[in-house]
Amino acid sequence: MAILLTGGTGFIGSHTAVELIQSGYDTVIIDNLSNSKETVIEGIHKITGVRPAFYPYDATDIHAIRKVFSNHSISTVIHLAGLKSVEDSVRNPDKYLQNNTVSTATLLQAMKENNVNNIIFSSSATVYGANNPFPYEETMQAGDFTSPYAKSKAMSEEILTREAESRPELSVVLLRYFNPAGAHPSGIIGEDPLGTPRNLMPLICQAAAKDIEEIYIFGDDYDTTDGTCKRDYLHVMDVARGHVVAIAYAEKNKGVDIFNLGMGRPHSVLEILKTFEKVNGITVPYKIGSRRDGDLPEFWAKVEKAKSVLNWETLYQIEDICRDAWRWKAMHPFE
Ligand code: WQD
Repeated sequence: MAILLTGGTGFIGSHTAVELIQSGYDTVIIDNLSNSKETVIEGIHKITGVRPAFYPYDATDIHAIRKVFSNHSISTVIHLAGLKSVEDSVRNPDKYLQNNTVSTATLLQAMKENNVNNIIFSSSATVYGANNPFPYEETMQAGDFTSPYAKSKAMSEEILTREAESRPELSVVLLRYFNPAGAHPSGIIGEDPLGTPRNLMPLICQAAAKDIEEIYIFGDDYDTTDGTCKRDYLHVMDVARGHVVAIAYAEKNKGVDIFNLGMGRPHSVLEILKTFEKVNGITVPYKIGSRRDGDLPEFWAKVEKAKSVLNWETLYQIEDICRDAWRWKAMHPFE
């Protein structure tokens, strides 16, 4: 039996593929390569000694997905494929609402046709919206979305939840990631979006490598410990391991369950930047800029549920995240 991993050449997908293979799972990847490169498969091979089956398919294409299901005996789907730029989603809301929900519905259809009953979905802390108190807890109502990206994730959660109501044999695990960062400790795979990165850690790496002159910190006048925004950063390998433990859980439990994946405490932008400088012995040029639209001052995860139910908690620290991100960048100077 194999695990079908959509979005498997992306940042979280590629690290998840490594964890799956190293946990003994036969892993099948589909990815339309809209924001990643096929060479990632070589990286996965180099780390694990196994080359996973790879299909350059789009998860919204039912004919393509049917082919994969007929070529492999799939037991669980891990659905990570999706558009993920918050800014782009504001400019092109239809694209996000369409793509990110159609892929979910398409996979559910193929699963039904093939009697596959387990799905793990890549959701996001952003579904908690603008008005929930932090730390965010899984029982809180999703809503007050700050972007079409957030809405598209919440809509996929809804589609999966409705499907589980009509198909009692279905297991749905919704993993709400906070701020994944870092890279595989080998430095062979890492965060490598096509085009200009928008997230904090790849930009810190670019500033440290002098690919860009400096990084702009979006505001230092928030009501936080040092005035900069605080987020719950966690190592991408911890996120990857979260998917592996979710498979075993899905195999044993029917219905829908939600888990936050976070470290359970926030770090400010300046703390991250200073830690990066310290552990890597390098200067990160920065300037304080104005606030970014839609940024919340701070939020972090309540992580007790993942700990008690899945026996999952983060193993890596902020220092590891900064060290591993820089190792990857140093080994891939032109990315
Ligand atoms: C982190 C912090 C910025 C860039 C988003 C999505 C979330 C998830 C991750 C997944 C913030 C500050 C950033 C810069 C800065 N999406 N920052 N200068 O916005 O918390 O979360 O990405 O795919 O769903 O909402 O992450 O990395 O953009 O920002 O000061 O140039 O870094 O203000 O406080 P964010 P981020």
